[in-house]
Amino acid sequence: MNVKAWSDRFALKRAPKLAKVLTAFNANVDAMVFGLHQPAKALALLSQAELAEIEKKCDSELREIKSQSDFFSALLHSVKTGKAMHLHASQGVFDWMGSVFTADETRIGGQAGIMANQLSAFHDFVLTYSSLLSPLQASFFDQKVCFPSTSGKKLVCHPAKKVARKGDATKVNWIFEFKTGEKLKAKSEFHSPRANRLIVSSPAHYTPVFENVDVKQLAKNADVAMLSGFQQLHLDKNLGATLKKISSQIAELKKANPKIAVHWEFVPMEDKKAEKLVLSSVGKAVDSMGINEVEIVDVLKALGAKKEADKIGKLENSYSLYLGARRLSELLKLERVHVHSFGFQLAVLRKPYVVAPDKVRDALVFSSIIAALKALKGSAFVSRKEFEAHALVPSETGFNQIRALEGGLDEERVKRFSSMTRRALLESGIFELNDHYVVIVPSPIVQPKSTVGLGDVISSMALAAERG
Ligand code: GLC
Repeated sequence: MNVKAWSDRFALKRAPKLAKVLTAFNANVDAMVFGLHQPAKALALLSQAELAEIEKKCDSELREIKSQSDFFSALLHSVKTGKAMHLHASQGVFDWMGSVFTADETRIGGQAGIMANQLSAFHDFVLTYSSLLSPLQASFFDQKVCFPSTSGKKLVCHPAKKVARKGDATKVNWIFEFKTGEKLKAKSEFHSPRANRLIVSSPAHYTPVFENVDVKQLAKNADVAMLSGFQQLHLDKNLGATLKKISSQIAELKKANPKIAVHWEFVPMEDKKAEKLVLSSVGKAVDSMGINEVEIVDVLKALGAKKEADKIGKLENSYSLYLGARRLSELLKLERVHVHSFGFQLAVLRKPYVVAPDKVRDALVFSSIIAALKALKGSAFVSRKEFEAHALVPSETGFNQIRALEGGLDEERVKRFSSMTRRALLESGIFELNDHYVVIVPSPIVQPKSTVGLGDVISSMALAAERG
């Protein structure tokens, strides 16, 4: 493979033109705890019996945090496996956490919040709708982010602070970030194979739908709608009506602006029964989905695609993830599935796709650079200046993943390609198949200071650049 072709692409210093983006529905505050010193200290105060119980529970994956020991078990599980985890906790556990831990930093959280602030570092116009907007929450938004109201037929922009609602709750989540090789001791000691984080999500409630805002006006002022926050939903008597409302609002967005790309940034749900329903309603209403290598396995299982899920479980690489993404795009009729993973990203694009695949690839290169810079600095967002000064190169892991994808696809072919054609494919990262394309990009690998929000930044910057 001509690695130079890829290094040249990563030498990108001028940001591509970005599309106008609407982000909705979830913004919260993230209370960041970097490193495992604080939890280690709290664990050291526990009795042997308590530690034994925590360690016993940490083998399985908990669905929610109902007690202090659940919290430690979840954190141990995340550290031991190096897996990202996102769990809801009860108010009691939250109060306890507030008395034991101190945040190293508080910053904007939630997909709609993180995306809005990152996009506004590169674009003067970012439109946001946040289901919760307390004055405290509003103070975390970039001043430039446009919170809309409609006057006559026109959309009017306000800074978050001006339209904050005093009665709204502030959702504060705890984020525990750890590095590769960091250790945590219960009865025995665990070392993390990979930098990652545990998110403990607060019980503050909201409904992810547009309220008191003209959906048509939103659509007319955006090329892309990045929607998320559905993880909040539960199987209760309102779920059916809420899902109907969301789906009809998505249809309204598309009717008012047939060119708009509606994207769902997937976040696993605590309530798996509700998740299934959300997948088959919201999933079928949107055009595009962003998901990581862990989440896609669960989603495929939920949708009955056991074969593809098992294949990733057995050997997780770009080829098995591509097969999973392709299946997902078929099952939910998505024109675009974007998988962000370790050292690479790929997108399955259904034909006829509205954007040329090389533009999609270059957008993925851009978003990889932004995400790697964010990870490296551990900051809430990456500025244009930082981007222009970057010196990042694609990773060896990424190159190996392009080879894995190309190799897998080649075996599927009835008539094999010549070695010259195969080399050209490795260099371009674009593979054309009957009814779709798959685009793959090797991304830089850095020792991250923080991993939270990377998927959000990757997905939003990629789609904004692709549609710019
Ligand atoms: C989820 C979490 C939020 C975090 C975000 C990062 O929305 O609830 O705390 O900032 O994911 O992706």
